[in-house]
Amino acid sequence: MKALTCQLQALPTLLFALSSTFLFLLVAWPKSEFSEKNPLMLKLCSNPQSSPNSAQEQNLNVPEFEWEAVLEQGKEASSLALQSPAPSAATTHHPLEVIYSKGYKFRLNEPDKCQERPPFLVLFVITEPQDIARRKAIRQTWGNESSVPGVSILRIFLTGVHPLFGSLLQPLLEEESSIYRDIIQQDFLDTYNNLTLKTLMGMEWVTKFCPNVPYVMKADSDIFLNVEYLVSQLLQPHLPPKKNYMTGYIYRNTKPIRDKAYKWYVPWEVYPNDTYPPYCGGPGYVLSGDLAKKIYQVAQTIKVINMEDSFMGICLHELGISVTDSPRGLFNVYKITYEKCQFSKLIVVHHYGPEELLQIWPSFQDQNKTCTS
Ligand SMILES: *[C@@H]1O[C@H](CO)[C@@H](O)[C@H](O)[C@H]1NC(C)=O
Ligand SMILES: *[C@@H]1O[C@H](CO)[C@@H](O)[C@H](O)[C@H]1NC(C)=O
Ligand SMILES: *[C@@H]1O[C@H](CO)[C@@H](O)[C@H](O)[C@H]1NC(C)=O
Ligand SMILES: *[C@@H]1O[C@H](CO)[C@@H](O)[C@H](O)[C@H]1NC(C)=O
Repeated sequence: MKALTCQLQALPTLLFALSSTFLFLLVAWPKSEFSEKNPLMLKLCSNPQSSPNSAQEQNLNVPEFEWEAVLEQGKEASSLALQSPAPSAATTHHPLEVIYSKGYKFRLNEPDKCQERPPFLVLFVITEPQDIARRKAIRQTWGNESSVPGVSILRIFLTGVHPLFGSLLQPLLEEESSIYRDIIQQDFLDTYNNLTLKTLMGMEWVTKFCPNVPYVMKADSDIFLNVEYLVSQLLQPHLPPKKNYMTGYIYRNTKPIRDKAYKWYVPWEVYPNDTYPPYCGGPGYVLSGDLAKKIYQVAQTIKVINMEDSFMGICLHELGISVTDSPRGLFNVYKITYEKCQFSKLIVVHHYGPEELLQIWPSFQDQNKTCTS
């Protein structure tokens, strides 16, 4: 609130009125419409989660991504959003290097949730501060904590600070958080190149506030997720929890993108090796709680890179732990057209937005009656 007050005093009223309108549009307007209409909005709202998260999924016709312009905007915005001097201005970090040396502070937290109702699975969902509609749709569909009878699931949305409208969006986010108590936020800028920080925030949260949880899932907000099938097929609550376990759609022998034209550009200075260790594709992967703690610890000791899913693989490599293969077809990083009985026997499908999720959900909930096993 302090930041908001400062801004009100410092900026002319007209500018504030304009940005309030803009903020309203940002929250209320579906992203696709923005993107088509306004190239600036394309950049502001370019949604890391709705784009392929992994370099391997890229389409070779991707238009040039103006990461330099985005970085400039981020830099200008950071003092506005965080009211703190840009720390790395005088140092020699590459602009895409992910700064994780001193960690980040929680702005929103749920420190007691896990003690109140110890979960079997913590479901972390990556969202941006303005993704109100996405969070709403996810709460009503696969993020419903009561979706698996007898299994305690804890849903937590992870966010950072919007690079331009951080202080304007904060009161909305705080209100949403006070109603649902399912949002955690740290004080880093919520940009595509900082995505790894969101996952690490989740790992930190497990380490500090939920150390005994058997399993953790990281999900993007633009997926279809079948939690019941995940629990029955892979996690199996009747068995002792697995250790050092991480599974999903596994990429092997992939290389960092060295071309600045791509959104997935990884500079040599940030990651020098020619290949990545095996890793699980970003849209949705699962790990054991013990491994979440080990990843959090090892991340303090190595260089954090801007591709969050590849970075999890790098952490596993450092820890000397391998990813675990799952039966084929359970995790899908490409879109599959909805079909009720097919979707009852898989776990993740990428590229499902809020409208489509809400549309298919009633049919999906019917699966038990009509799909034979
Ligand atoms: C979650 O699922 C339960 C049980 O199926 C249902 O009663 C409840 O209304 C659902 N909650 C939401 C927010 O949709
Ligand atoms: C990541 O967040 C930090 C802390 O807010 C910020 O200084 C940095 O500019 C951000 N990096 C990118 C690439 O947006
Ligand atoms: C990177 O390459 C070095 C030298 O070959 C190797 O020691 C190291 O384990 C590699 N790191 C990863 C993450 O693959
Ligand atoms: C679906 O059916 C199976 C077996 O008939 C049952 O064990 C399971 O609890 C049902 N799931 C739901 C969500 O009703």
